[in-house]
Order: sequence, then C-alpha cells, then structure tokens
Amino acid sequence: MAIPESFIDELISRTDIIDLVSGYVRLAKGGGATMSGLCPFHSEKTPSLKVNSDKQIYHCFGCGKGGGAISFIMEIENISYRDAIEVLARRAGMTVPEDSASGELAGKRRRMLELNREAARFFFQMLLSPDGEAAREYLAKRGVSKTIVTRFGIGAAPDEWGLLLDALTKKGYARQELIEAGLARSGRKEGGAYDVFRNRVVFPVIDVRGSVIGFSGRIIGNGEPKYLNTPDTLVFNKSRNLFALNIAKKSKSGMLILVEGNLDVITLHQAGFDCAVASLGTALTAEQTRLMSRYTEKIILAYDSDEAGRRAALRAIPMIEKTGMHVKVVDMGASKDPDEFLKTHKPDAFRLLIERSENHVEYQLMTIRNRLDMTSDEGRLAYLAEATDLLARLESQPEREVYGAKVAREAGITNESVKNEISKKFRNIRAKQKKDYEKRAARPARTMQPDDRSLRYKSEGSAAAEEGIVRCLMRDPALIETARDAGFSQDEFTSPFLAKIYGVLARRISEGQEIKEQLVLAELVPNEASLLTMILQKPESYPQSARNVSDCIEKIRSEKYKTSDPDESLLLEIKNYKQGMM
Ligand code: CTP
Ligand code: MN
Repeated sequence: MAIPESFIDELISRTDIIDLVSGYVRLAKGGGATMSGLCPFHSEKTPSLKVNSDKQIYHCFGCGKGGGAISFIMEIENISYRDAIEVLARRAGMTVPEDSASGELAGKRRRMLELNREAARFFFQMLLSPDGEAAREYLAKRGVSKTIVTRFGIGAAPDEWGLLLDALTKKGYARQELIEAGLARSGRKEGGAYDVFRNRVVFPVIDVRGSVIGFSGRIIGNGEPKYLNTPDTLVFNKSRNLFALNIAKKSKSGMLILVEGNLDVITLHQAGFDCAVASLGTALTAEQTRLMSRYTEKIILAYDSDEAGRRAALRAIPMIEKTGMHVKVVDMGASKDPDEFLKTHKPDAFRLLIERSENHVEYQLMTIRNRLDMTSDEGRLAYLAEATDLLARLESQPEREVYGAKVAREAGITNESVKNEISKKFRNIRAKQKKDYEKRAARPARTMQPDDRSLRYKSEGSAAAEEGIVRCLMRDPALIETARDAGFSQDEFTSPFLAKIYGVLARRISEGQEIKEQLVLAELVPNEASLLTMILQKPESYPQSARNVSDCIEKIRSEKYKTSDPDESLLLEIKNYKQGMM
C-alpha cells in the first residue's frame, strides 16, 4: 500500500537531519548551517560529509552520496524505502498509516513488550518472595547491593517449571504468546508448556527507549548453560542492543566502558561507574558500535584478560574507530575481569586503570608481541614487519617516532633501521593516497556525468540546461509558469532522471504542495537523491529567473538538433527549416 504523501511531508518536517545523522556520525560545526563529519559510506580520515540544517540534506564530497532523511536511513541501514519510513516515523513519534498486515505486526510487538514488562515485574517480585531465597543468597554472595537490584530490576526465576506461565496466563496472556516471547517452551504433551527461565537470577534487557525487550538469566551457582538469553523475537535481537545502555546513556562521565559480562556491568555500576555496558554475549557488532556512538565519542574497553578477551578486543578496536570514536584498553593485570578486579581493589584503582589505559597502538603492539616468540630471530623479524606496518599508518610523525623507538628496543634492532622501515612504508601509503585523491579530483573536471552509470546523461549539453531548470524551479516554483508559457513539457528532457524530477515538481506545484529540497528528496531512491543533492549544490550557473528558465529551454531545444546521429540531425534540420519557412 502506498503511504500518503501528506504523511511523508509531515514526517520529513518533523525529522531533523542533523539529529538523524548525528546518530551515526560524530558531527562538528562547519560554517553556518553546515556541520561536517567522517562519511559513513566510504572510509576516510578527513571529514567530507556535510550536513545542512537549513536545507535538511547531506552530501559527501568524497564519494558523492547525498540526499535527505529517507535516503540516509535507506543507505546506512541498508533497508527499503518502506522500512526507512517506518524507522523515521518511530523516531518522530508518528504511526505510519498501516495496511492490515503491518498493523497486526505493530500490535503484536506492543503486546509482547507489555508481556515482557509483566514478566520482569513477576521476576522482581519473586526475588522478594520466599521462593526467591536462593537467588537472594546468590546475589548477596556476589556482593550485589539492594540499590543495584532495584536500579537494574534484577529478578529471580525459582527452580520450578510453571510459575511464570501460571502467573501470566492468569493475567490474560496466552501460552502461545509466552512461547513467542521466548519466555516459555512448548512441552512434549499436546498444548503443554514450561518456563524457560528456571533456577536463575534474571536481568531484564531494556532498550534505550525503556522497553523491556528480553532477559538474560544467570544460573544460580554452577550449571549449564551459565547464561540463558531470550532468543530473537519480534522485539529482541541481541546483536542490536547492549546490556545497561538504558542507564549508561544518561551517564555524565563522557564515555562508555564496554565489558563482556553482565556481572561486570553490575559490579562497575555498583562501584560508581554508571557508564558500563556489555554486548549480550555476542562479539561486538557494527550495530552495537553505532548505537554507542550516539551517546559518546570515547570507549574504554575492559574485556576479560584471557586470550579470548584479548582477541575480542583486537577485533573490536577497528570497529569502534570506524565510527570516529576513540578507544582505550584497560589492562587489569592478573584479574580476569572487572568484576574480579573490583572484588580485590577499590573503585579508585579502576579509575586509575582507566586514566592509564593504553591507547590502542600500544595495545596492538603488545598483542602482536604476545603472539610471537620474541626470543627467536624469526619472531623478532616478524614483529618488526608487523609493527612497522601498524606504525606506518599513524598520521602523526612524533607518534611514529616514539613508538618506532619502542619497537626497536623490543625487537633488539637499531633505532635507525626501524625508522627507515617505517618511513618507507609511510611514503608508500602516502603515495597511494595521493594517487587515489588525484584520481577522484580529476573526475569532476573531466565531465559533468553522474557517477551512477544508470543515471548517465546522453547529452551533456542538454543535461546542463535541464539541471538548470530543475535548480530554478526548486528555488522558485512560480517559474514553472515560464516553462508552461514556452510550451515546454516533461518529454523534452533528455535525461529520464531529470524528467522525473521535473514531473515531481510540476505535480507538487499544481497540487499546491510545498517545494522543499527534503520533501522532493523524499520521493526519490538513494542514487537519485544523491544526484539531485549534488545538482542542487552546483555553483549558480543559472540563478532563478524567468530569463534563465527561457534560456535553459532554448538550450535544450537547440541541443536536440545537435544529435550525434547524422541522419536524424539532418531530418531535424529539414524540419526546422520548413518550420522557418512557414
Ligand atoms: N554468555 C552467554 N551465554 C553463556 C555464557 C556467557 O550469553 N553460556 C554471555 C553473558 O551475557 C555473560 C557474558 O557472555 O555475561 C560473559 O560471559 P562470562 O564472562 O562467562 O560471564 P560473567 O558475566 O562474567 O559471569 P560470572 O561473573 O558469573 O562468571
Ligand atoms: Mn566474565
């Protein structure tokens, strides 16, 4: 079902592009209404993404991507137009007019969230009841305070098979609903079911909007599996959420501490680190990284100190850096995780660890060293090779030197030869960057053709004037009168893309709708939106005036006769000539 245009217009006017893009990219003030940041659509070190709050558009001068709110979401989340509208509507607190199928889905989701909230309430009550004694004792043994229990809404699932099912079916939820929410499983007996969370301390997983989306249950004492998490449901996907982000997002500390375990999070919060979060038993995902970058630019990694934790940290570092955040790694020495560290040290000691946390270069060097046998010549040579690869990628000369000297010491090689090696690799990288840059810079000068092949112009001369008409009309819709007076029509465009834009404009104008960049962009797919954004930003070769619209039309008509096909051009000339005679 098509979404009414009036809805889209309203949605776009309620969406602020700066706000939206900031959710994914760290933006800094540029000049005036423009902010800039590292483009999320290609990899770069200097910001070429510009976001304009007046026009409500974004445009990357590096890769050419651009458009409005809808195309941004489509591109970055890699989702359909329809889904992008859905995402934006949710942000704006609007409800997309639904066909019955998607309306049913939204209703189901709402109901599952209510069910989850009821379940969380039930577990919490259980913890205070006689049946919750084992869980209470366990939490006490782990040193979890009452305040923290309340803050996190920690609960208990007693060692029984149907307590939750009974309680919630009494409240009017169907067995099937509990099964779909991952709270119950169907039993062998026809129509039978049993509770999933049993004999566990239960941590509700709450998203940044405050909805209870799932649960993570730790077994009381020893047993398998140690943790049991809600499976993927209509409302829960563990790779898209972080445990405790609902609390940490309000932290004033200006950072997020990322740990592996739920109990690490709990202990850190109890010690006053209200910015600790954990990925829910998964390796860090790009979605989680983006989510964090909405709230901070600084990540402290405090993963477990074992080999697995170290490897996970090394994998996480580049992912975090890609979003423009800074990352540091905490070294807890002999302690296996933050929870253990805080059992044997004061909170201030952990604060010190954070202050002294190694920046990632040292961490990466250390990890390379740990992998190699540094007592053998082979090992030291391998270290030299890998370390200089890493250091050559550093932008700052002093950094390259300081770490270079360190590597020289560690590998037992002279300072001079390490320095030479780094400079050589650095120069190679620079040369390649320069070449790439020149290639890119040369392109726009050579041609005005869109990058997207499917939108290529057949006639560049005509297209320039066609772009001109579009630009004029976007800026002053009244000018459409001039085009109409000249008997100009959509099919005189040589570029189907520009014809489409003209069609959209003409329709909006005759329906009395507003012509704003962001509204027109909302009707286009991402590659079209990119091109239009670029066209609208081209220097003012055709300021909006009736005179220029006529000039453009004349140009389009005269270009038509310069067609490359000689026979056709001849025909046209004859036609022209005849017309002139009459
Ligand atoms: N995890 C999981 N399933 C498991 C084991 C772990 O989902 N079978 C997830 C949990 O979110 C857990 C995290 O991975 O919090 C880290 O695991 P681990 O270090 O074993 O747990 P801790 O939280 O440190 O728990 P504890 O201190 O009780 O051992
Ligand atoms: Mn752990």
